[in-house]
Amino acid sequence: EGKELSYTENIEKASASITRFPLIRVRGVPLMSYIANNFDSVWDFRPDPSDILIATYPKAGTTWTQEIVDLLRHNGDAEACKQAPTPVRSPFLEISSPPPIPSGLDLLNKTDPPRIIKTHLPFQMVPRGFWENKCKTIYVARNPKDNLVSYYYFDQMNMTQPEPGPWEGYIHKFMRGELSWGSWYDHVKGYWLEREKNNILYLFYEDMKENPRREVERIMRYLDLDLSDEVLSRIVELTSFKNMKENPMTNYSCVPAPVFDLSVSAFMRKGEVGDWTNHFTPEQTKMFDEDCEKQMRDVNIPFRSLI
Ligand code: A3P
Repeated sequence: EGKELSYTENIEKASASITRFPLIRVRGVPLMSYIANNFDSVWDFRPDPSDILIATYPKAGTTWTQEIVDLLRHNGDAEACKQAPTPVRSPFLEISSPPPIPSGLDLLNKTDPPRIIKTHLPFQMVPRGFWENKCKTIYVARNPKDNLVSYYYFDQMNMTQPEPGPWEGYIHKFMRGELSWGSWYDHVKGYWLEREKNNILYLFYEDMKENPRREVERIMRYLDLDLSDEVLSRIVELTSFKNMKENPMTNYSCVPAPVFDLSVSAFMRKGEVGDWTNHFTPEQTKMFDEDCEKQMRDVNIPFRSLI
């Protein structure tokens, strides 16, 4: 009696109300209806200057970065970072009540700053307080074809997201910016154009895969932390794909079926660069790359391979 339900228990309690939510456009950006309908309260959120924002297009490496930052903040203390699942230690800003998923704003209001806050909102929809308060912000971009493939599996297993439909049609929806949180192209460009003015650390998933140690150090410096070599090595090891896949606090086993159906696809699915080659036909690759080149022509972001 009176005991607060855990994150997982809250989802279980609400799982009867789970449905594949339709998308509603807010300021032109499609969002799942339960997020769209509550956007005004998210827009009014006032962060503390000490809060850290992790911003990504969905499936670009958010969870990985959240874990790195939490471990950096705890000097590599694995036990401290196993006290709660990722979305409790690092709330998801725009996830709102009503359930199935516990509200990000509620979790944030229960936690003292400095907090590690996750968002998928495009730059122009992030509450202004983050920029006014000069909050540290880490953006992670992933090459579009791998990002799309990862999202395609995620939309199959996340029973709150709209039905992904057939593969070929999904590619077109991605290209047209019709998936939840809108256009990948606008997203990566939006943050890129604002990175200097707002001191955003702009990272690439492919760089993190190539040399995780280098990128963890980069994040450490950005956060004005100074950890020992030994602690850094430990953080790199703790945040390897294999370890995060086995860690119940990071592998999203905290979101039970029917919300995340891990029998359809694991949240920690593959964690590789180049998995798109197993999915795109040569024709689809050509079509996608031609369109991508056009959509990315106006802003030169140094993806190691855009196409
Ligand atoms: P795949 O579906 O390609 O495997 P997000 O956290 O933004 O939802 O991104 C999820 C993607 O990042 C998934 O990609 C997941 O496997 C991958 N990922 C999560 N943790 C990772 C890690 N420690 N190393 C590499 N990739 C990781």
